[in-house]
Amino acid sequence: MSRHLLVFILLVFTYNVSCITIDLESAQAVRNVSSKFVGVTLDAGLIAKRWKTFNFTSQKVLTLAKGMSPSYLRIGGTAGDRMIFNMTHDQRNSPNHRHYAMKVADWDNLNHLVMNAGLDLIFNFNVLLRKNGNWDPTNAKELLEYTVKQGYKPAGYELGNEPNYFRGAVSEKQLAKDFAALKNIVSSSGVPPFLTIGPDVGGMLPGSKAPTFLKNFLEAGGGDVVDVVTVHQYYSTGRNVTLKDFTDRKVLDTFIPEVDLFVKTCNEKAPNKQCWLGETSSFSHGGAPHISDRYVAGFLWLDKLGLSALRGLQGVLRQQFYGGNYALLDTNLNPNPDYWLTLIYKRLVGSPVFDVTQTTDHNVRVYAHCTNVSSSIGYKPGSITVYIMNIGSVTVSVDIPFSSSKTQQRYILSPGDDNGLTSQFVKLNGNVLMLPNDNSLPPLIPVFSNDTLQLKAYNMGFVVIPDAMKAECMQT
Ligand SMILES: *[C@@H]1O[C@H](CO)[C@@H](O)[C@H](O)[C@H]1NC(C)=O
Ligand SMILES: *[C@@H]1O[C@H](CO)[C@@H](O)[C@H](O)[C@H]1NC(C)=O
Ligand SMILES: *[C@@H]1O[C@H](CO)[C@@H](O)[C@H](O)[C@H]1NC(C)=O
Ligand SMILES: *[C@@H]1O[C@H](CO)[C@@H](O)[C@H](O)[C@H]1NC(C)=O
Ligand SMILES: *[C@@H]1O[C@H](CO)[C@@H](O)[C@H](O)[C@H]1NC(C)=O
Ligand SMILES: *[C@@H]1O[C@H](CO)[C@@H](O)[C@H](O)[C@H]1NC(C)=O
Repeated sequence: MSRHLLVFILLVFTYNVSCITIDLESAQAVRNVSSKFVGVTLDAGLIAKRWKTFNFTSQKVLTLAKGMSPSYLRIGGTAGDRMIFNMTHDQRNSPNHRHYAMKVADWDNLNHLVMNAGLDLIFNFNVLLRKNGNWDPTNAKELLEYTVKQGYKPAGYELGNEPNYFRGAVSEKQLAKDFAALKNIVSSSGVPPFLTIGPDVGGMLPGSKAPTFLKNFLEAGGGDVVDVVTVHQYYSTGRNVTLKDFTDRKVLDTFIPEVDLFVKTCNEKAPNKQCWLGETSSFSHGGAPHISDRYVAGFLWLDKLGLSALRGLQGVLRQQFYGGNYALLDTNLNPNPDYWLTLIYKRLVGSPVFDVTQTTDHNVRVYAHCTNVSSSIGYKPGSITVYIMNIGSVTVSVDIPFSSSKTQQRYILSPGDDNGLTSQFVKLNGNVLMLPNDNSLPPLIPVFSNDTLQLKAYNMGFVVIPDAMKAECMQT
C-alpha cells in the first residue's frame, strides 16, 4: 500500500465528518415567545421534607435565582395535594401522614425569595380538600387572607396536580367547577391581578387517558376559566433509564406527538389562552440518578425548549430549581450543567422563532430565533441565534451561509471533565463554568469566528450572527 493511500484512509477514519447546511436566509418567523418563556419549579414535597439543604438566606441561592429572572417559579406537585396551610402550627407532621403543614415561615420564605430574585410565584392549591363533592376553599381563603395582609403578589394560582391520576376522584366537569370557584375566591380576596393556571394534566401521550381528560375539562367550562392551560411532560419514568436514552433521537422525538396534540387541543378548546408545559423535566419520579443532573441531560432539555417554542407553546416550567435528580442546583446549592444551559438560553435566545430544520443528519438538532437583544450581552437588532446539538459520535461541519455576514459568536458547550457525558460540570468554549463568588454570575464569553463551525460529537451550542440584519429581528 502506498503511503499516500494509507494517509488518505487514516484521514477518512480519523476525521469522520458529517456536513450540514442551515438555511437561515429563507427561514420564516412562525412564532413569538415571551421573555418569561422558560421558568422553574420547586416541588411541594420539599415543604414536607423541610426543604432538605435548600437555604432561603443564602446569597448564592439568591444570585442563582436572579439568573432565572424574569420568569415564573411554580410551587406544586403531587405532594401539593396533601398540603395544608397552617397559620399556627409550627411543627410539621411526618411526611408519611396523609397531610402535612405549610407553615407561615414557608410561605414567607418563598415570597421573599421571588421578590428579591425578580421571579413571579405560581402556587398550586390542594384540590383534594373536599366537602360535599366540591373543592373546599376554607384553607385557601386563610392563605389568601394572609397573602393580602403581607402584600405578597403571587402571579398565578393552580388547583390540583395531575388530576387524571386521581382514579376518578374528581371528574373533569367537577374540576372545571372547582376552578371557577378558585378564580372567584382569589378575585374576591383582594390580591392583585393574577393568572388562573391549570389543570396540570400529567402527560399528553396520544391514545392515553390524559388528552381526553384535558379535552373534557376544557369543554366543561375549564377552557373559559383558565388563563393558561397546562400539561406536564416527561419522556418516561426515571426508573429504567440508561445513559443512551439521553442521546437517542427516538426518545427526543417522542415529545413531538405530545406537544402537537397539546397545542391542537389547547388552541381548539381554549382559544386565545396560553399553552404551557406546567412541569417538565427529563424523566419522572425524580429523574434518573447520576444522569438527569449531568451534562448529558442538556440534550433533552435544549431540544425540548426548541420544539416547544417552534411548535407553539408559550411557557415551559422546568422541574426543578432545587431537589430531585433533575435539579438545576445540586445539594450543595451549586449549579448543575442545566442551570448554565438555561442561563445561556435566556441571555441569547429571543423572539420570534424561525422554522429551521435540516434533514441531512438525524443526529443534529437545530433551532433558530432572533437573538435576545435586551440581555446584558447587548446584541443589536437584526441578530439571529442558532442553537444546535450534536447527539452523534462524529464531528459535524455546520455551514450557516449568510450573505450579509460571515462573523459568528459561538458559545459551545462540552462536558466539564473526564466523566464525559456524566460530568457534573460543563465547559463553555473550553472553560468550566463556575460561580466566581456568591454575588455574581460569570461573564459568558463567546468565541469569534468566520470559519465553518466544526461541532464535535456530543457537543451543543449557540451561534449568534450579530450582523445578520434579519428583517424579522429588526424590531426591538
Ligand atoms: C410576533 O409579534 C410581532 C410584534 O407584535 C408581530 O408583528 C408578528 O406578526 C408576530 N409574529 C408571529 C409569527 O406571530
Ligand atoms: C444558609 O446561608 C446562610 C448565609 O449564607 C448561612 O449563614 C447559614 O449557615 C446557611 N444555613 C445552612 C443550614 O447551611
Ligand atoms: C394547625 O395545626 C394545629 C396544631 O397541630 C391544629 O390544631 C390545627 O387544626 C391545624 N390547622 C389546620 C388548618 O390544619
Ligand atoms: C424496570 O426495571 C424493573 C427491574 O429491573 C422491571 O421489573 C420492570 O419491568 C422495568 N419496567 C419497565 C417499564 O421496563
Ligand atoms: C432576554 O434577556 C432579558 C434580560 O436578561 C430577559 O429579561 C428576558 O427574559 C430574555 N428574553 C427571553 C426570551 O428569554
Ligand atoms: C472576520 O471577517 C471580518 C471581515 O473580513 C474581519 O474584520 C474579522 O477580523 C474576521 N474575524 C475573525 C475572528 O477572523
